[in-house]
Amino acid sequence: MILVTGGCGYIGSHCVISLLNQNKKVAVIDNFVNSDKSVLKKINLISKKNILFYEGDLRQKSFLSDVFNKHNFETVFHFAGLKSLSESYKNPLEYFSANINSTINLLQTMQKYKVYNLIFSSSATVYGKDHPLPWTENIKLKFPESPYAQSKVFIENLLLKYYQSDMNFKVGILRYFNPIGCHSSGLIGDRIDGSTNLIPSIMLYLLGKKPYLPIYGNDYKTKDGSGIRDYIHVDDLVNGHIGALKYIIEKKGVHIWNLGSGKGYSVFQIVSKFEEHYKKRIFKKVMPRREGDLSEYWADISKAGKELNWSPSLDIDKMILDSLNHLKKLKEANL
Ligand code: NAD
Ligand code: UFG
Repeated sequence: MILVTGGCGYIGSHCVISLLNQNKKVAVIDNFVNSDKSVLKKINLISKKNILFYEGDLRQKSFLSDVFNKHNFETVFHFAGLKSLSESYKNPLEYFSANINSTINLLQTMQKYKVYNLIFSSSATVYGKDHPLPWTENIKLKFPESPYAQSKVFIENLLLKYYQSDMNFKVGILRYFNPIGCHSSGLIGDRIDGSTNLIPSIMLYLLGKKPYLPIYGNDYKTKDGSGIRDYIHVDDLVNGHIGALKYIIEKKGVHIWNLGSGKGYSVFQIVSKFEEHYKKRIFKKVMPRREGDLSEYWADISKAGKELNWSPSLDIDKMILDSLNHLKKLKEANL
């Protein structure tokens, strides 16, 4: 059986569906800090399969032990955590606690129950700034500024140190660039209410819940002045996890892979793609740069290509069309 922490969240729920489609038995832990119970029903609707669900916080060790006591997990996919770089400046203690304390508890419980395979959701933000593009996994990390990114650097290091103390432990660290899009059913997707991310922000505007779309900075040294990121379809991202698990089981050790598309798109380019596919002008308002944002970065994905035999197959138009399909479902459900 596989344990998915944060399995009701955006990426976790897509991973759960992929695992169920491969006939894996799945248990999920989530505390619903950034998701809700309705996701469980949707996972069931899409996959026509059931999962075991445990509501709780990874920071409660006795709760974790109870869950591990009930099952023989062979692998943990660890998605649970807080993910907004900008919010992490406002609430650093909660970010360190939710990300680092949770992971320490999880590792201690895995050690106690001799569960050795872990796939961890890291982030491109660990690289810090001022590196030549595209970013490769062997870049020497420059300690990043945001508490969010610092928590991911700390966890990556924790995983390495734990491995050095117990070489039974096998870890895949996946440095995600910017996952967007959603399952083709449109039923599940990134949470938009309260989100600080670009796609949810555009969706809120299109739902009429925002008078304008904020553009955080148009004076970066980029082709059109707005920030450039590497967007990857969440289904491609999830496929990378499946490849990573296979790899660590065979090769053992700690391994790091970038998961991105290898291409950069600016905020203005993404917004015009939405305008083109939704056939509506988006009213934009240029705002000051957001604290901690970098001007541009994208991934070198050749390591994952070579070692995992993985490459993204869904392009930026598909990512946006799937997001718009999700928007349609949200409108139909009157959310
Ligand atoms: P998400 O917020 O949609 O999902 C995270 C899930 O974990 C949520 O359902 C939340 O309720 C749960 N959770 C959070 N803290 C918990 C805790 N202490 N105990 C139990 N459950 C808890 O986020 P996501 O976009 O699916 O991201 C998943 C992981 O990937 C996160 O670790 C995030 O930092 C990382 N990541 C995300 C992105 C992105 O852009 N989405 C990019 C890079 C890395
Ligand atoms: N942006 C806007 N307007 C908005 C929201 C975002 O202009 O309303 C801009 C940002 O300034 C940035 C770009 O859109 O230039 C992307 O911003 P997001 O908030 O969507 O994503 P981030 O790159 O800040 O961070 C995301 C995840 C992190 C992850 C990182 C990896 O939130 O968890 O990608 O690259 F680590």
